Amino acid sequence: MTILITGGAGFIGSNLAEKLLRANQTVIAVDNLITGSFENIRDLLAKYPNFKFFKLDVTSQEFSAGFQPGKIKLDRIYHLACPTGVLNCLRLSEEMIDTCSFGSKRVLSLARDHHCPIVVTSTAEVYGDPEIFPQVESYNGNVSTTGERSSYEEGKRFSEAMVAMFVRKYKVKAKIARVFNAYGPRMSAHDMRVHAQFINRALKNQPLSVFGSGRQTRTFCYITDTLDGLIKIMDKGKQGEIYNLGSNQPTTINELAKTVIKLANSKSKIKHRPHKITDHKHRLPAIKKLKALGWQRRVELAQGTLKMIAYVKSSN
Ligand SMILES: NC(=O)c1ccc[n+]([C@@H]2O[C@H](COP(=O)([O-])OP(=O)(O)OC[C@H]3O[C@@H](n4cnc5c(N)ncnc54)[C@H](O)[C@@H]3O)[C@@H](O)[C@H]2O)c1
Repeated sequence: MTILITGGAGFIGSNLAEKLLRANQTVIAVDNLITGSFENIRDLLAKYPNFKFFKLDVTSQEFSAGFQPGKIKLDRIYHLACPTGVLNCLRLSEEMIDTCSFGSKRVLSLARDHHCPIVVTSTAEVYGDPEIFPQVESYNGNVSTTGERSSYEEGKRFSEAMVAMFVRKYKVKAKIARVFNAYGPRMSAHDMRVHAQFINRALKNQPLSVFGSGRQTRTFCYITDTLDGLIKIMDKGKQGEIYNLGSNQPTTINELAKTVIKLANSKSKIKHRPHKITDHKHRLPAIKKLKALGWQRRVELAQGTLKMIAYVKSSN
């Protein structure tokens, strides 16, 4: 089976590539490296002859032209390409909008032309600052169309609308994974995503910056569970359906900071700072639909955090 992963040099994409390569699949990763890194896939390229990487932007004509059915046969597509990181909502807002619109259209068109199933990764951010708990997939969210985070939040909502159009008009076998906070090895330390930032700073005994009171909650899902979810959605998910993918164990950012400090044996202190960008108070996915596909979270927060600490230590 030949599987295309857009965003394949990113955190989730490179881990997904490794899992699929270990299962003897042929994997093609496409990435423009805007928030990902070639380092994430360097070892995989050396180890697996059935792994190919193309530095391409999914918004480009070159990308569409390179993967036409006459040139290659694709059996599955995981569409993960998108600039990420909350603070990048300001710095990379145009790139987010372009990738979620022009880019998603090119990727979904390939799925249509190859008659192959596709999973499109959306985000918990489509719920904005939610007013109902837990967030069920049918909840339409509470999102500002023009707020500081709107390029990402509305970009992803538009990608979802595009999936719905391709399903209705072209009968594409597309499914949507709404990913809540995932964490684990290969997560960039540069984009301020909280887990990576805390671990990197704790290992250097530097203060951990907690924005606001730290009482805001998130749920954290270890990468191996996230990958299981994506594959379950690909293999068993229904055409046109949306699946939340994440842990349903809420943790405050203060608790996460304390957990990281303890598990890393760190002398770091917690420093509260004003928010740099509008923050959302709480997040909690309803995961009944994903569980009905046979998915179960296996890695607890402390266990996953310890694994990630070990990874960051070994790669420093
Ligand atoms: N990690 C999480 O907690 C999380 C949560 C919600 C949603 N998601 C979604 O999952 C997907 C993967 O996220 P991630 O955490 O691995 O982030 P990441 O930034 O590590 O990976 C995304 C990859 O997409 C690439 N990319 C961006 N724009 C591109 C373009 N136009 N053409 C080609 N490549 C492009 C980036 O360079 C990067 O390697 C994203 O779509 C993200 O929105 C992730």
